[in-house]
Amino acid sequence: MERLVAPSMLSADFANLACDIEMVNKSQADWFHLDIMDGVFVPNISFGFPVVERIKALATKPLDVHLMIIEPDRYLERFREAGADWLTVHYEACTHLNRTLSRIRELGMKAGVSVNPHTPVELLTDILEYADLVLIMSVNPGFGGQKFIPNSIARIERLRKLIDQKGLSTLIEVDGGVGPSNARELYQAGANVLVAGNAVFKADNPLAAIEMIKNA
Ligand code: DX5
Ligand code: ZN
Repeated sequence: MERLVAPSMLSADFANLACDIEMVNKSQADWFHLDIMDGVFVPNISFGFPVVERIKALATKPLDVHLMIIEPDRYLERFREAGADWLTVHYEACTHLNRTLSRIRELGMKAGVSVNPHTPVELLTDILEYADLVLIMSVNPGFGGQKFIPNSIARIERLRKLIDQKGLSTLIEVDGGVGPSNARELYQAGANVLVAGNAVFKADNPLAAIEMIKNA
């Protein structure tokens, strides 16, 4: 099964962004994970379009944009223009999720849906075929460097069963508290894409950390 790594730029050094982008470019990482926070859906504000555009200009790998914002429909087109290849919205922020995911695909991006730790993955049963990716939050979204919530493993296993039962190729991505120490267990539970912020950028050797996650 596919094993991808997506370093979260939230933990990068914003005064030396070009340097951190270059590191990801030459690493074994597969995507750039970009966390967009509005201070309403989550209790933190991160960065917006100018930063996404500059990362796009230097990145040689796809941009995986994770929207932790209310009313994401207002900005889908704008994120495509800024360079998003994968665009993920939150289940909890969408009243008409089918419409939102369909629109993301129409705009030429891959569509993702994310669930907070309290949202049962079974609620995605009837939307799975409209999603290219499901992002399981393994911390409460809003901040890097938090502790992995243990029952996320069971959530990944349950989602993996649902996806396989339907014969779909929807990817499972896991985000929050992920690093070399739990990567193997996550891939084994059925995850395809691991996001890692602090485990990469706060490591003494970020390139080695990415390699350890990828080959866990
Ligand atoms: C959290 C974000 C994550 C975060 C992960 O709300 O969605 O992408 O950057 O950071 P770590 O890997 O440090 O938990
Ligand atoms: Zn994220």
